[in-house]
Amino acid sequence: MLDIQKIRTDFPILNEKIRGKQLVYLDNGASTQKPQVVIDAESYYYEHQYANIHRGVHYLSQVGTDLYENVRKQVQQFVNAKHEHEIIFTKGTTNAINLVAYTFGRKFINEGDEILITEMEHHSNIVPWQMLCEEKKCILKYIPLQADGSINLEDAEKLITPKTKLVSVVYVSNALGTINPIKELIAIAHKNGAKILIDAAQAIQHFTIDVQALDCDFFVFSGHKIYGPTGTGILYGKDDILNQMPPYEGGGDMIKTVSFSGTTFNDLPFKFEAGTPNIAGCIALGTAIKYVQDLGIDNIRAYETELLNYATEKLSAIEGLKIYGTAKHKSSVISFLLDGIHPYDVGVILDNQGIAIRTGHHCAQPVMDHYGIPGTCRASFAFYNTKEEVDVLVEGILKAKKMLS
Ligand code: ALA
Repeated sequence: MLDIQKIRTDFPILNEKIRGKQLVYLDNGASTQKPQVVIDAESYYYEHQYANIHRGVHYLSQVGTDLYENVRKQVQQFVNAKHEHEIIFTKGTTNAINLVAYTFGRKFINEGDEILITEMEHHSNIVPWQMLCEEKKCILKYIPLQADGSINLEDAEKLITPKTKLVSVVYVSNALGTINPIKELIAIAHKNGAKILIDAAQAIQHFTIDVQALDCDFFVFSGHKIYGPTGTGILYGKDDILNQMPPYEGGGDMIKTVSFSGTTFNDLPFKFEAGTPNIAGCIALGTAIKYVQDLGIDNIRAYETELLNYATEKLSAIEGLKIYGTAKHKSSVISFLLDGIHPYDVGVILDNQGIAIRTGHHCAQPVMDHYGIPGTCRASFAFYNTKEEVDVLVEGILKAKKMLS
């Protein structure tokens, strides 16, 4: 059992007043707030330990290198990767997917080959593949959405063929909350000789991950969605695949030798980490992961499910409110519309009451096209949210309805 009131005191921002009202932060799908320990970890490093890493014999450089590399080990254990060098630090999910598209895609995907995604992807898992398809003349296909916001494994079976070189799917939909059957998708991809990337931007903060048990080829997530700093993220890849991929960006750290007659590249993981990285951010990401592990991912998930069920029941009782995304397996996201009312208008009225939700297409325009809507209002919950905050949201929606009807 989590002590939510105690946990809330770890997050200084939750005390803020917004437009004179107590902040009710329900935009955790876009980004999560940071506990004081994460904020302190970053500033402590700058105040007491800062120097560039991997390139100094002096004391501070070695301290920084150890802190940074220890987080790599920590992430390896967190997702149960086989090797430490399979963990690549990136700027986030988007950067990690682009890395795979740019390197794996350009080396292994050719004209006429197919890449398969789903209709529920966010733009980060659509646009890099569209760019690759334009360049390599390969074909982008998608598994269609069902009315409830889930996908059908029979469709996946039909669409994943020997022509499919890569399947790239979101674990949890940011727009609908749907949890995808990734184990089954991984098995179908491998049966057909395809590699598979799991976009865990909305899953890493809710689920215990074991990349070896999953047997996925790539697994990506962002630090800022797991209570860590922005500009941090992870690409996990199986080492035999990463080793075959050419580098992404060129620069310092990713090389072994450079001369004007040529350059030799560094080994994993450094081959994919050109230039000075976000050292402080990565160190604080380690603190964030420890914070989440200390609470217990299973405890977090159980509590968030309770919140989701409570909020679903309360919101469903509002006349004229329709929830988009009603799949059986859902994470703590509720996308909704009020009959005849534009989501932005609802968002502005809620904001005036200190309630932060996201409105619009949630960087997943094809999902909105599927339902023929301009966007939704999205409330997304974290473990520091409470049932009382759900009640405040319900009051706010009722007020918005009254003002806009
Ligand atoms: N993909 C992020 C969201 O869902 C930005 O808001």
